[in-house]
Amino acid sequence: MNTMDRRGFLKVAGVGGALLLTYPGSGALAAAAGAGKGFSFVQFADTHVGYANPPVNPDASASLQKGVDWVNAMTPQPDFVVFTGDLTHTTDDPQERRRRLTEFKRIAGGLKPKAVYFLPGEHDAGLDWGEAYKEILGKTHYMFQHKGVHFLVIDNVSDPAASVGEAQLAWIAAELARIPKADPLVVLTHRPLFDLYPEWDWATKDADKVLALLEPHTNVTVLYGHIHQEHHHQSGHIGQHAGMSTAYLLPAPGSVPKKAPVPWDAAAPYKGMGLRIVQDDVAKPTPEFTEKPLAGM
Ligand SMILES: [Fe+2]
Repeated sequence: MNTMDRRGFLKVAGVGGALLLTYPGSGALAAAAGAGKGFSFVQFADTHVGYANPPVNPDASASLQKGVDWVNAMTPQPDFVVFTGDLTHTTDDPQERRRRLTEFKRIAGGLKPKAVYFLPGEHDAGLDWGEAYKEILGKTHYMFQHKGVHFLVIDNVSDPAASVGEAQLAWIAAELARIPKADPLVVLTHRPLFDLYPEWDWATKDADKVLALLEPHTNVTVLYGHIHQEHHHQSGHIGQHAGMSTAYLLPAPGSVPKKAPVPWDAAAPYKGMGLRIVQDDVAKPTPEFTEKPLAGM
């Protein structure tokens, strides 16, 4: 069992197009030079199937497919793929919501890696407490394991108050009680588990309660979506990392008076859109991330 401590202060270094999250004395930079083993997986965030707004993305319906095709051509193939919510774009029509979720499932079903993990965003689940999502894609919170790494999938969107809620907190506590404190743990969720910018709904109301449960675990990484851009934050020893959307870019937190999608730039198509490759290994101090722009695919 790995006992290496993945705690430390975050450093960010660009190497060969890869964004490496390294820790003092970890040797991760050397490992990233080509010595790495372990496994990789892909994170898609905010695919928003059903989004139709040509001034923002004239290619929205094909953007997810573009990412899927690129993943299918990866060598070597990732072990699995995760989607961190907002699989579909919101709609008031329950039938249309089901149609969009089914369309998303069809496109994701075209991925070569057959292990694919989903969780909802507020666009998928915030208007019906996840009812349609559960019908079509299953549970909204669960755990899985892969090669010594535990993955905890948290739903912080089905409750329109943007809370995880007491019932799920009790479930998280029970699940974490079964895990040795030094085991690598990756948390997958939609909203950030910290107050990034609550004025734009970029927060989880009871994030402090989740972090208190995670705190005794020494090797924790949070991957989330929701904010449609790459972002990195340390909550004590817990790193929280947002990935790009395949559908549209949102402005930096608080950088404009009103949150609205960044318009399409004909001179730079797919600007700010992309996906993330995560290289993980229980023998390394922290996962390594490569952010892949859709523009280069
Ligand atoms: Fe989104």
